[in-house]
Amino acid sequence: MQVTASSSPRTQNHEPTQVEGHVLAFEYFGAVPGRIRYDNLKPEYRSPGELKSPQADAIIVAPGTFNTINKWANGISDTYALGILAEAPGLNIPVVALPFVNSALADRAPFKDSVNTLRSEGVRILLGPGEFEPHLPGSGGDRISDFPWQLAIASVSDQLPAPEL
Ligand SMILES: Cc1cc2nc3c(=O)[nH]c(=O)nc-3n(C[C@H](O)[C@H](O)[C@H](O)COP(=O)(O)O)c2cc1C
Repeated sequence: MQVTASSSPRTQNHEPTQVEGHVLAFEYFGAVPGRIRYDNLKPEYRSPGELKSPQADAIIVAPGTFNTINKWANGISDTYALGILAEAPGLNIPVVALPFVNSALADRAPFKDSVNTLRSEGVRILLGPGEFEPHLPGSGGDRISDFPWQLAIASVSDQLPAPEL
């Protein structure tokens, strides 16, 4: 999906319910989508002969689970989403990850190693003071409403050229 900013969204190649959901999501983040282009409506690999999707301008991984971040860092590519992420650093696509993990998971050595590995490959991981701060185990439900989506939007925006209006 590609989104640029202006006041009235134009869409191509879309399902109405997806567009409505994404417009609401971007409004929630404080951004205003002007043009939404869906490169691939299916969250799965294309069939042989189907056109290849254009490369993403940037990717946000949020909420990034313990499972996904560890698999991504360790080169596991057993879902469509992980397949896209597997190539992204090597293609120099800006990637921002905003985890959602509790402190028991965040303190595990494998997770710390994964975060360090991804950071060393140029992935921006929004974890730590002023970014995502892990919650106590069992309290994740209280953190959903203040999950800092806007930090991921701001971080990815910083890494992209200004959109054409
Ligand atoms: C109710 C519920 C809440 C969960 N919350 C989290 C969470 O906040 N963070 C996390 O890393 N895993 C959480 N998990 C565990 C993940 O769902 C599980 O690790 C799953 O394999 C993640 O797969 P994914 O990374 O493909 O989304 C939760 C599981 C359940 C059942």
